[in-house]
Amino acid sequence: MNSTHAAEVEAKTRFEFGKNWTRFIGLLDNQRIRQAEVSLQQMLGVESLQGKRFLDVGSGSGLFSLAAHNLGAQVHSFDYDPLSVNCTTELKRRYADDSGDWQVDQGSVLDHEYLHNLGQYDVVYSWGVLHHTGDMAQAISNALSGGSRTCAISGLCSLDNPSSHRQTQT
Ligand SMILES: C[S@@+](CC[C@H](N)C(=O)[O-])C[C@H]1O[C@@H](n2cnc3c(N)ncnc32)[C@H](O)[C@@H]1O
Repeated sequence: MNSTHAAEVEAKTRFEFGKNWTRFIGLLDNQRIRQAEVSLQQMLGVESLQGKRFLDVGSGSGLFSLAAHNLGAQVHSFDYDPLSVNCTTELKRRYADDSGDWQVDQGSVLDHEYLHNLGQYDVVYSWGVLHHTGDMAQAISNALSGGSRTCAISGLCSLDNPSSHRQTQT
């Protein structure tokens, strides 16, 4: 566990989501993976993510990163909780070990420089995450800074293209 995360857990200001995700991935099966793929297809209004760059902000178990990868995307997953990062890494090991199209690392959506260095994505996906960061406004701003065409953020689904913005409450 990194020292900042560990200190926050010690101070009881940080919930350890990763512990829950560690249990959850033991229950994962092909049916749940397929359901995640279908939910992404329906939310994004696409059949495939072939050739798209997909950023999973706060990947948790890694299930939606796996679903996006299975739909053809080049995926970058990150999470602040080291145990969540371990879960996502374990899903990659189990289902896409040899893939060069899926990268997993630890980072915080509140770290503007980290987000900036990740570059541009076609889809920024952040479900159930930004309101857990302690600074939701900064988290939204950073998540959107990747210049993405499509953002899926929990509670607010925004399907954008570079010249027009349409937001739909979900
Ligand atoms: C409720 S879970 C959602 C996980 C996943 N997005 C999903 O839909 O299954 C919230 C996740 O956000 C992560 N998280 C919390 N603060 C974060 C931050 N500042 N940067 C990145 N991830 C963060 C947590 O560690 C946890 O894995």
